Amino acid sequence: MKLRYKITNGILIFVAVALSSLALVLSHNSDCGPAPAVSDETVLMKAIVYRCYGSPDVLKFEDIEKPTPADDEVLVKVHAASVNPLDWHYMRGSPYIMRFGTGLGAPNDASMGVDFAGTVEAVGENVKQFKRGDEVFGGRGGAFAEYVTVPEDRALVLKPSNMTFEQAASVPIAAITALQALRDKGKIEPGQKVLINGASGGVGTFAVQIAKSFGAEVTGVCSTRNVEMVRSIGADHVIDYKQEDYTTSGQRYDLIIDNVGNHSLLANKRVLNSNGILVIVGGSKGNWLGPLMRPINALILSPFVDQEFVLLLAKMRKDDLAILGDLMQAGKMTPVIDRRYHLSEVPEAIRYSEEGHARGKIIIALE
Ligand SMILES: NC(=O)c1ccc[n+]([C@@H]2O[C@H](COP(=O)([O-])OP(=O)(O)OC[C@H]3O[C@@H](n4cnc5c(N)ncnc54)[C@H](OP(=O)(O)O)[C@@H]3O)[C@@H](O)[C@H]2O)c1
Repeated sequence: MKLRYKITNGILIFVAVALSSLALVLSHNSDCGPAPAVSDETVLMKAIVYRCYGSPDVLKFEDIEKPTPADDEVLVKVHAASVNPLDWHYMRGSPYIMRFGTGLGAPNDASMGVDFAGTVEAVGENVKQFKRGDEVFGGRGGAFAEYVTVPEDRALVLKPSNMTFEQAASVPIAAITALQALRDKGKIEPGQKVLINGASGGVGTFAVQIAKSFGAEVTGVCSTRNVEMVRSIGADHVIDYKQEDYTTSGQRYDLIIDNVGNHSLLANKRVLNSNGILVIVGGSKGNWLGPLMRPINALILSPFVDQEFVLLLAKMRKDDLAILGDLMQAGKMTPVIDRRYHLSEVPEAIRYSEEGHARGKIIIALE
């Protein structure tokens, strides 16, 4: 058994190195290139685009063609968008292995951003669920723009009436991640002791509130300056990681949602109950193998421990967005908003996100 897992580990590392090397070699052909020409009749909109991988300097604020909805699509005028670490992973094409999906030499798709909220401006002729004037939120590539088109059956739902556009735009990636980590991977149950490592960030602030809505006893881990905020969103206990290491606290948990990945799997195991679950959400940074090592180690260790180590790859789902909308409408989840930037300031917003100390969500305001 041990040998089999060692071989699997070796093969995975070899494949990852080989594919990443190829991606890097091909990436040297990157060409940022000029903006494509548009005719005088083209209707334009403002948007953030990138034509090569790199730092926030590759992001350009440009006039591009305004999209037209297909028969099954909705055209949304974006009022607010929000930033996620995913955006800068796309911008940098990092870890390199992701370039097999996003484009080897340069990004296949120049558009940026995913989370948005806005008003339906037009609908395709087959659209049944939405009408002009509806206030909506959702997730769709190209959200850092004045307009975005979304197929009606994809991640698009009505905005709760008690939420602003900025609050609704905070939700899609971060709150879906928190929900799927707690419910699908963590199998959360009422009364369980749940620890959220990285409780003050985008995912963490939603995870604390969603875990409370499931009836769990929640411990949030954050730095000194965020202790009061994490308590204010419902955490029963808060551990200041600058003062205390949760893996040596002597407490035990049924479920740990790890948004940071700064403690080893074995250190986490030490504070998990015998049938406890660790959900790996965020982890090591790096262009090469760094981000893969934690999931690989979890795979190797799993057969030898009672606890479960599971990796989350969140999926943007319409039904989960609707559940999150209901939680907000019921007053059980209120987004925490950190800083606001204008659309033209997306490079600064991404720089701030890359520092890794956002306090809740970073908003791009288009109004
Ligand atoms: N697996 C998936 O499907 C999935 C989906 C979405 C996101 N993610 C990943 O999940 C991670 C979190 O995403 P996010 O949107 O929440 O990021 P974020 O908004 O940038 O939040 C980062 C948070 O981490 C906290 N932090 C930094 N060092 C810490 C430490 N040593 N201990 C505890 N907290 C610490 C920071 O708080 P302080 O300022 O207090 O240090 C900050 O609030 C990212 O790595 C992201 O890529 C994964």
